[in-house]
Amino acid sequence: MKTIVVTSQKGGSGKTTLCAHLAVEAERMGDCPVWLIDTDKQGTLSVWHERRNAETPQRAEISLTQIEKGLTALANRGAKYCFIDTPPTISEQNVTVLKLADLVVIPVRPSPADLWAVSHTVALAQEEGKPFLFVITQSKANANITAQTVAALSHHGRVAKTFIADRVHYAAAMTDGRSAPELANKGQAAQEIAGLWQDIKSCFNENNNSLNK
Ligand SMILES: Nc1ncnc2c1ncn2[C@@H]1O[C@H](COP(=O)(O)OP(=O)(O)O)[C@@H](O)[C@H]1O
Ligand SMILES: [Mg+2]
Repeated sequence: MKTIVVTSQKGGSGKTTLCAHLAVEAERMGDCPVWLIDTDKQGTLSVWHERRNAETPQRAEISLTQIEKGLTALANRGAKYCFIDTPPTISEQNVTVLKLADLVVIPVRPSPADLWAVSHTVALAQEEGKPFLFVITQSKANANITAQTVAALSHHGRVAKTFIADRVHYAAAMTDGRSAPELANKGQAAQEIAGLWQDIKSCFNENNNSLNK
């Protein structure tokens, strides 16, 4: 089983949205069973999951003290991927979770404030020796700031090829427990999420060390 921890020290960067969308996409592609774990007290991912009609992806309610054992149990039950959503804080809790990651996904909005916050998250991942991948989220069409953000991030590590744009569908779909591709399966969001999931999977097919500079 591969454990993907989605984290950033910035609220609103798109952690929960990415967790939900990537988990649904992994199931859709047959890279399953997929499990979700929500470690954010705000519980946004859990609320989304409760509203969801579909049976997959499944969500495990595991307390932080049990999370390592919980992941082992999921792996023993044949889980293929587990996505862990995290709160936007630097805490013991996030370090505990990072230690369990096979890959750390760091969503970053193309904005100066998001960029400035990145170094803390990168430092945490590097301290734990974890491979990480930046994902541009909520990008606006033709904005120079996106190119500038990618250039700045690439000094720290790898940036996913696929960017997630700012699209109403991402937020709208989540209100009733769905994902944007489930709302419009031929839409641009569907293409982005499919592309991003391929980018992430390709990270596991390579030598992990090449992920980080
Ligand atoms: N790609 C996107 N396009 C439009 N809105 C988005 C996108 N990603 C996230 N959002 C919205 O931005 C807000 C913050 O996203 P969320 O995933 O909850 O961030 P985090 O978990 O990092 O705090 C939410 O209202 C969400 O619906
Ligand atoms: Mg969140």
